[in-house]
Amino acid sequence: FEYAAPANEPVLNYAPGSAERAALKKQLAAFKAEVADIPMYIGGKEIRTGKTVDLRPPHEIKHKLGHFHMGEASHVKSAIAAALAAREKWANMEWEQRAGIFLRAAELLATKYRYHINAATMLGQSKNPYQAEIDSACELIDFLRYNVHFLSEIYRQQPASAPGIHNRTEYRPLEGFVLAVTPFNFTAIAGNLPTSAAMCGNVVVWKPANTQVFAANTIMKVLIEAGLPDGVINLVYAGGPLIGEICFADPHFAGIHFTGSTGVFQTMWKTIGENISKYKSYPRIVGETGGKDFVLVHKSADVAIAVTALARGAFEYQGQKCSAASRAYIPSNLAEEIKSKLVAELKTMKMGTTEDFSNFINAVIDERSFDKIATYIDNAKKDPTVKIIAGGNYSKTEGYFIEPTVIEATDPKYVTMCEEIFGPVLTIHTYDAEKFEEIMVTVDTTSEYALTGAIIAQDRYAVELATKKLVNSAGNFYINDKPTGAVVGQQPFGGARASGTNDKAGSMLNLYRWLSARSIKETF
Ligand code: ALA
Repeated sequence: FEYAAPANEPVLNYAPGSAERAALKKQLAAFKAEVADIPMYIGGKEIRTGKTVDLRPPHEIKHKLGHFHMGEASHVKSAIAAALAAREKWANMEWEQRAGIFLRAAELLATKYRYHINAATMLGQSKNPYQAEIDSACELIDFLRYNVHFLSEIYRQQPASAPGIHNRTEYRPLEGFVLAVTPFNFTAIAGNLPTSAAMCGNVVVWKPANTQVFAANTIMKVLIEAGLPDGVINLVYAGGPLIGEICFADPHFAGIHFTGSTGVFQTMWKTIGENISKYKSYPRIVGETGGKDFVLVHKSADVAIAVTALARGAFEYQGQKCSAASRAYIPSNLAEEIKSKLVAELKTMKMGTTEDFSNFINAVIDERSFDKIATYIDNAKKDPTVKIIAGGNYSKTEGYFIEPTVIEATDPKYVTMCEEIFGPVLTIHTYDAEKFEEIMVTVDTTSEYALTGAIIAQDRYAVELATKKLVNSAGNFYINDKPTGAVVGQQPFGGARASGTNDKAGSMLNLYRWLSARSIKETF
């Protein structure tokens, strides 16, 4: 069947006095009034082990939102068994029927559960309402609808036949189960990684980050209400290494759909390599990992565009987007103006809880992140070669709050120009405005990552030059825009080099990885 490219889900703005603002506030209050008891979902059953982990809003750590039940080795094994038991029926279900389940889930998220998923993301992951809306509502809904569209296009691609010969291609799912491992920072990614594989007829074991469980639970409930059969996606909570050890030793392991750190991905890949002779088929390894995303400003830049790209690109969601700008190269002719306007802009960004909708900046995700980011800031404070020109303060008394911080470095290879920090820290280096060619070499060679990057320039020649010279430096490249906020169906998202396998999320490239095609020739 054909499912035409859908329109992107419209973004609600939660303006003061709007009905959507009142509805979202009501849902936030409802979540805060109860203590959620969150089970695992294995083979359609809710599993409670009694071994629980508390969930607290990162911006209000004294409040308990709920707890979730941790599993052990036996639960991971039963999740695999439940997935394999569901496989045959699911793999052979009419595609139209499978598609219907995910389209219905998208509809439920767009209507009945929009405020649930946004409130869960705001409280669980400390996103402001606008950041929650573009992620957990719009992007997730878009992933579900667009993947149905792309998959229906893939299924229609058929080979040529000839007189006396009928050829066809069957796009089968993989023979086994897929492991989906999802990160805290995007609810949309949490929803996309298990569902894109499942949509292709695969069965899935899904392990979200512990700090994402509140939203993951809402997604799972929506999928069940939409009609997802038991065992197709099994949501388990257990230590990452334990899940890896069990899944990667299983002969039916057929693929991993991962977003998270480069180190974890590389360890997984090695383990899979060591076990390669155990598997029935070669597993698909799909991962989106780190980034050290750049904004390169040319001497011809529009300063207002550059300042917005830096302020929004670096500090939305406290810089915890894998796409966040974290190193900037600004030309000497515009440096003072850009810096002073950026510092002024950051002063307008209020910091606090997500329940107060006027706060732009909320907390970072947990104490480990907080401590890591604070260490980078402390080291910068002690280093005479760099200067902190904005922010630099932090506190973890009420929640994990870190001010948007800008470090100015004369050395373009200063540690915070090179290492991924994953927090609200931007490092700026001023370069000689006449040495654009040289700075492009620095941009390209400073980091092993290649996720996102931006060129800000009015000069068309500079735009073309940067687009060509930085060809391998970013999987998503932006011209006169911030390097974050890819929209499903418009800018397929993913990076190369150490940033991942570049199987663009929300595109056919990604879906092909979850399919195993069979060519059938019939002769008459
Ligand atoms: N897809 C997310 C963005 O583009 C990570 O910001």
